[in-house]
Amino acid sequence: MTGHGGRHFLQIPGPTNVPDRVLRALSAPTIDHRGPEFAAIAADLLERLPLIFRTRGPVVVYPSSGTGAWEAALVNTLSPGDRVLAFETGHFATLWRGLAEKLGLAVEFVPGDWRHGVDPDAVRERLAADRAGAGAIRAVCVVHNETSTGVCSRVAEVRAAMDAAGHDALLLVDTISSLGSIDFRHDEWGVDVTVGCSQKGLMLPPGLGFNAVSEKALAAARAAGLPRSYWDWGPILAANADGGWPYTPPTNLLYGLREALDLLLEEGLDEVFARHARHAEATRRAVRAWELELVPLDDREHSASLTAVLVPDGYDADEVRRVILDRYDVSLGAGLGRLAGRVFRIGHLGDLNDVWLAGALAGVEMGLANTGIPFRPGGVQAAIDHLAETAGAPAGAAAG
Ligand SMILES: Cc1ncc(COP(=O)(O)O)c(C=O)c1O
Repeated sequence: MTGHGGRHFLQIPGPTNVPDRVLRALSAPTIDHRGPEFAAIAADLLERLPLIFRTRGPVVVYPSSGTGAWEAALVNTLSPGDRVLAFETGHFATLWRGLAEKLGLAVEFVPGDWRHGVDPDAVRERLAADRAGAGAIRAVCVVHNETSTGVCSRVAEVRAAMDAAGHDALLLVDTISSLGSIDFRHDEWGVDVTVGCSQKGLMLPPGLGFNAVSEKALAAARAAGLPRSYWDWGPILAANADGGWPYTPPTNLLYGLREALDLLLEEGLDEVFARHARHAEATRRAVRAWELELVPLDDREHSASLTAVLVPDGYDADEVRRVILDRYDVSLGAGLGRLAGRVFRIGHLGDLNDVWLAGALAGVEMGLANTGIPFRPGGVQAAIDHLAETAGAPAGAAAG
């Protein structure tokens, strides 16, 4: 790598850039996690965190990555051999399915092309055909924002499809790369468990996993038979009521979470979502101007937190990423699973402003020129034209 001044551009779709305010909060002295000062911090956090999920709560917080929060959602609500309906939207949906199968669940995995989200009609048809009683589908698992493809599934429509089928399966949704970036409504959309984590829209380092939990999910947990100990919601919620956890919590990450909540709530969630949607639109305009192909095929399903770009056949997306990192100090996301080497992913979530995004896109455009990939220059211009035209517009007016 050549020498670089200035800041590194971390434009992967998580972990994301940690704002200076959060970094400073993380570095405060570690305190007694059983003392009154910590209990006050925990109480404040647990009261405000549900706002990000748009739920009245509760939200269970784990010292874990997102994968742990996936496992927690399953082991708290299901029993060995239970049937689960899931959809092959991409790499992360495939990983969640694998995890569920290792736990002994019977996953019906609806095949997909990694370019579309969950089809609400398919949900309705599968559930309408499902027989009630023993052996019925117990849960529907949806990855809201597929981080491997930049495809965002329409969760409200999935909920409506479940209702139309008159089916009482639980709805479990992974919001790992949408939480705090893309509109998501746990209560309004009748989600039973929302899975989240710290290192993306929440602008924190990795290390916190979340489960937002409905009344129905809490009732399911009382009957669920999968073995669980560390992930068990019961003891955690009981300890939370007294301002603590049943084990040593990640004190400093929780300081950071408190600061991140301040940042998100000061800006306003709707404004945060509008900012992401506007940056995503600017990025797509850049990609289209470059005459490169976006992974999502349905215009209703573009992610606001990342953009996945296909490189032309015969070219290596990893080489593009390597050149962009080496020459311009910009990290882009790699293609994952069956998209390895075929796509690069531009993360535009978390702590980001217009000029920062324009800089990142400039790094991409310069790198494209360096690698000899067939493309048309002018993507940065298309993006900044959109940013300039829509700067200062009220939230919601400039998304696209
Ligand atoms: C949509 C989605 N689900 C799950 C995961 C797994 O999370 P973690 O890597 O924190 O375990 C990721 C990670 O990027 C993700 O993007």
